[in-house]
Amino acid sequence: MGTPMRRSTVPNWHVRRTNETMRLIITTFVGIIFGFLLGVSFPKLSLSKVNVSSNIFSSIDLTYVEDKHSGLSTQALLNIWSHLRGRRARKSNDTEIWVPTNPRGAERLPPGIIVPETDFYTRRLWGLPGEDLIIKPRYLFTFTVGYEQKNNIDAAVKKLTENFTILLFHYDGRTSEWDEFEWSKRAIHVSVRKQTKWWYAKRFLHPDIVAPYDYIFIWDEDLGVENFDPEEYIKLVKKHGLEISQPGLSPDSGMTWQMTKRREDTEVHKDTEERPGWCTDPHLPPCAAFVEIMAPVFSRDAWRCVWHMIQNDLVHGWGLDFALRKCVEPAHEKIGVVDSQWIVHQTVPSLGNQGEAEKGKAPWEGVRERCRNEWSMFQDRMTAAEKAYFQAMGIDPPNSTAR
Ligand SMILES: *[C@@H]1O[C@H](CO)[C@@H](O)[C@H](O)[C@H]1NC(C)=O
Ligand SMILES: *[C@@H]1O[C@H](CO)[C@@H](O)[C@H](O)[C@H]1NC(C)=O
Ligand SMILES: *[C@@H]1O[C@H](CO)[C@@H](O)[C@H](O)[C@H]1NC(C)=O
Ligand SMILES: *[C@@H]1O[C@H](CO)[C@@H](O)[C@H](O)[C@H]1NC(C)=O
Repeated sequence: MGTPMRRSTVPNWHVRRTNETMRLIITTFVGIIFGFLLGVSFPKLSLSKVNVSSNIFSSIDLTYVEDKHSGLSTQALLNIWSHLRGRRARKSNDTEIWVPTNPRGAERLPPGIIVPETDFYTRRLWGLPGEDLIIKPRYLFTFTVGYEQKNNIDAAVKKLTENFTILLFHYDGRTSEWDEFEWSKRAIHVSVRKQTKWWYAKRFLHPDIVAPYDYIFIWDEDLGVENFDPEEYIKLVKKHGLEISQPGLSPDSGMTWQMTKRREDTEVHKDTEERPGWCTDPHLPPCAAFVEIMAPVFSRDAWRCVWHMIQNDLVHGWGLDFALRKCVEPAHEKIGVVDSQWIVHQTVPSLGNQGEAEKGKAPWEGVRERCRNEWSMFQDRMTAAEKAYFQAMGIDPPNSTAR
């Protein structure tokens, strides 16, 4: 950018007063020396001296660099710099950047500098950035926890290999106590009081933030993992092409759907039979294309869709399990339950304790009521959204698929 502008200033020089010409010559000379010195200071730069100096002029704190590297007069350099900058501002903006295909809001940036996604990898404060990460974990395991379930979580985390990033969402505000576990110092802790798993997931697991992870586990805290090996689990999920999955629940896991009950004769199952009349379509929930929300595992792509479906205000996520199938196609093949790696649901009503006694009702009653309400609100929104879409497309809406 600097070079053409510099060229265009040359014809003007002879009409200026002699002392100004002298000044420009001197400052140019100084600039060349300065550039040379920078070239010496940063021998790895392959740009020409002129290019280096003009780039430096426009982008970094001159005083700082000059003081550190050359000891020459800053004023002279600043003069030529502002001169060139003034010329540039008056020029047409054909050198301005505008890239419509950039992420929204970042159109003014050259695409090469844009980093649209991030991760939870921690880094060192020293050394070469490229050498910070010895391994890049490919799976993200999140738990929404209260300190009272620490033994459960400890048992689960001890099963995670170095391939996992551990992320804990604390709903009880107790975080430092977890440091009694050696692994806690490696984990990411997010503490916001009295929120639900889906509230955290919506806020902290944006698809662009968890982009490097092949699989994302979004688990409750009351799950027994004695018969669960995470690496084996992922092998099976890959083998059977499951984009959304959960481990089977042992039969003593209390009330649950047929679909999520563990079977002893298979590795994985993708459909089931429910009580008569419960499944109008064998390819639809709760007989297929269905896992519960207590221990789901999402592929990166499936999560990118599911995240968008989570409503900011419907924090309990009820009804989400019935809608997950909208994110994968064909859902009855890509959603399933892993039987040979299974868990026990201990049904600790932990979140109920986070409610508040109101109108003579126990805290857990209020929470339960809200869960039910949210379920129907979610279904209503989904139905309305689908209807609006089909109407806008001029298509007769198919009978509601939300329920
Ligand atoms: C400045 O650098 C650009 C590429 O970075 C190159 O095309 C151009 O020739 C260089 N100009 C000079 C004067 O060396
Ligand atoms: C400068 O850029 C704006 C928006 O990018 C454009 O509307 C305008 O016509 C440009 N002006 C010139 C002189 O190129
Ligand atoms: C981590 O993942 C890699 C690649 O899938 C695998 O080869 C390795 O065995 C895993 N590490 C452990 C400890 O299982
Ligand atoms: C949709 O519902 C209407 C009335 O409830 C019924 O007559 C129709 O057959 C249904 N269509 C489909 C595709 O199920």
